[in-house]
Amino acid sequence: MNVCFALNPPVDGEDLNALFSAAWAGHKSRDFGPVLARSLTYICAFAGDRLVGFVNLAWDGGAHAFLLDPTVHPEFRRQGIGCEMVNKAVSESRARGVEWVHVDYEPALAAFYRRCGFQPTSAGLIRLAGPRALL
Ligand SMILES: CC(C)(COP(=O)(O)OP(=O)(O)OC[C@H]1O[C@@H](n2cnc3c(N)ncnc32)[C@H](O)[C@@H]1OP(=O)(O)O)[C@@H](O)C(=O)NCCC(=O)NCCS
Repeated sequence: MNVCFALNPPVDGEDLNALFSAAWAGHKSRDFGPVLARSLTYICAFAGDRLVGFVNLAWDGGAHAFLLDPTVHPEFRRQGIGCEMVNKAVSESRARGVEWVHVDYEPALAAFYRRCGFQPTSAGLIRLAGPRALL
């Protein structure tokens, strides 16, 4: 089926939660309103009316944007949808004058991010909440 991409489309929280439940183990239904309200841009992928992909770019208001939650429904993976969404998010960042797009990821996804154009770098992370929080 043909997949279409849309920049900042109206998107239903139920559809986002259904996509995240299918794609992320242990996903708990949440309100995406605050996330989308603070987004520089987000990209959705649709197969017909069905939401099958999502990626979000958070922004510091200046030179830095941070790629968050690239998500493709398991039934639609390895067809280039993830990279296409990331490429669109990066293009939109460039168009808006962002200078750096950051991302962090598990080692198993290094090939995916390399394919999307990211150079590996050192980065740091502190988990403040959740089962393995460093408190
Ligand atoms: C990561 C994710 C978004 C990739 O989406 P996708 O649409 O399958 O990715 P693409 O088809 O654009 O992949 C392009 C290339 O990246 C690499 N790649 C993609 N997924 C990969 C994986 N799970 N492991 C290793 N390489 C991968 C491959 O080289 C692939 O090319 P190929 O299919 O020709 O081998 C998807 O697997 C997903 O939603 N995972 C669960 C959520 C998640 O972990 N998101 C990332 C958080 S950091």
